[in-house]
Amino acid sequence: MNIGIDKIGFYTPKDYIDIVELAKARDVDPNKFTIGIGQDKQAVPRPYEDAVTMAASSADSILTEADKASLGLLIVGTESSVDESKSTAAFLMDLLELPEDIRSFEIKQACYGATAGLQTAYDFVSQNPDKKALVIATDIARYGIKTPGEVTQGAGSVAMIVSQNPRVLKLNYKSVYMTKNVGDFWRPTFSKTAFARGKYSNEIYVDFFKTLWEKYQTKYSATIDDFSTLLFHIPYTKMGTKALRTLEGKIPDDKYAELTEHYQQSIKFSREVGNLYTGSLYLGLLSYLINGARSGEELLMFSYGSGAVGELYSAEIQKDFASGIVSENVLKMLNERKKMSISDYEKIYQIEYQNGTIVDPEAVESKFYLSEIKDNERLYKKNK
Ligand code: COA
Repeated sequence: MNIGIDKIGFYTPKDYIDIVELAKARDVDPNKFTIGIGQDKQAVPRPYEDAVTMAASSADSILTEADKASLGLLIVGTESSVDESKSTAAFLMDLLELPEDIRSFEIKQACYGATAGLQTAYDFVSQNPDKKALVIATDIARYGIKTPGEVTQGAGSVAMIVSQNPRVLKLNYKSVYMTKNVGDFWRPTFSKTAFARGKYSNEIYVDFFKTLWEKYQTKYSATIDDFSTLLFHIPYTKMGTKALRTLEGKIPDDKYAELTEHYQQSIKFSREVGNLYTGSLYLGLLSYLINGARSGEELLMFSYGSGAVGELYSAEIQKDFASGIVSENVLKMLNERKKMSISDYEKIYQIEYQNGTIVDPEAVESKFYLSEIKDNERLYKKNK
């Protein structure tokens, strides 16, 4: 049975900051941010947006009534959830008007959560072929104003429906993975912003990729010629470039040139949005599908979540992949965003809603929003 991704939906907030303006405000050479880090814009969420509202928006953009009726599993991968107990998935039941006879939960392992969700969804559909699974990656990446990580922030969500006979991507179930207890990035429960040993994180990420590629070749007698495209977890686009460069000189030059060209197509959206944490690899997939992919291509996907878990797996682009992604909507969303000044971004960044907050619906620009915090409970609404 063929199982994989049947549809992909995407959401990112309506405001962004320009990375050159951020560099100037921080007294940094803009080339460091645009070339050295590899970013152009960064999504800025409003205070009434969070992992729940963004997840609702990305899923809402693809879910039909027929999808809802056949859903058996809902998994949300996030590392910026709003509750230490209740899962982001449970909040989505009302917002998306989902039937109650589904299994749902949240997965946390830094940026790896959605990949764990996809592999679990694969197993679920293989046991329940008539059912579908909804896997959502949703995050707000925050390091703090004037920190080294500030340029690698971002926000957004990617939703994927997993089913049999998928239109977009067949998961081959060829996969290698590894886990190590590593202190490269962490966010204690008391903190809204992450802590990172950024350069160490780069090293671990590249080491994981190298180790997993060795393992993959051995386990499946694979060579680089089996793949035309490598997709990477891209918290900022330079990071994937570093992993890709480990192949330079080790594979034929024309193969390296092909992989580099395809990598450039896969990072277009990340340059525009920034870090999605769990969604970064899947935004790269969406970018590649819209900007370069051909049906029948074999992809190798590198998922990495600090802390750290890595997984390298293969997948095949399907004949009708374009019908499972609404390219016009994705491009419209990216193109219709508004640029926010650095000073407005700094003001919005500091706002933290407290118990008792009631949000004025007239001031809300997103479809789903945090409407109120009452008795310390976060309550959400859908804009009519
Ligand atoms: N023009 C072009 N490139 C420039 C430049 C300029 N004027 N100035 C610096 N650069 C390059 C550097 O050479 C470096 O490139 P390299 O990484 O290929 O060597 C890059 O820009 C970054 O410079 P660096 O001095 O290392 O930046 P930094 O100390 O500000 O730290 C990060 C950068 C990425 C480590 C930091 O932003 C961070 O910690 N981010 C969060 C890390 C993260 O996301 N971790 C989780 C990953 S899963």
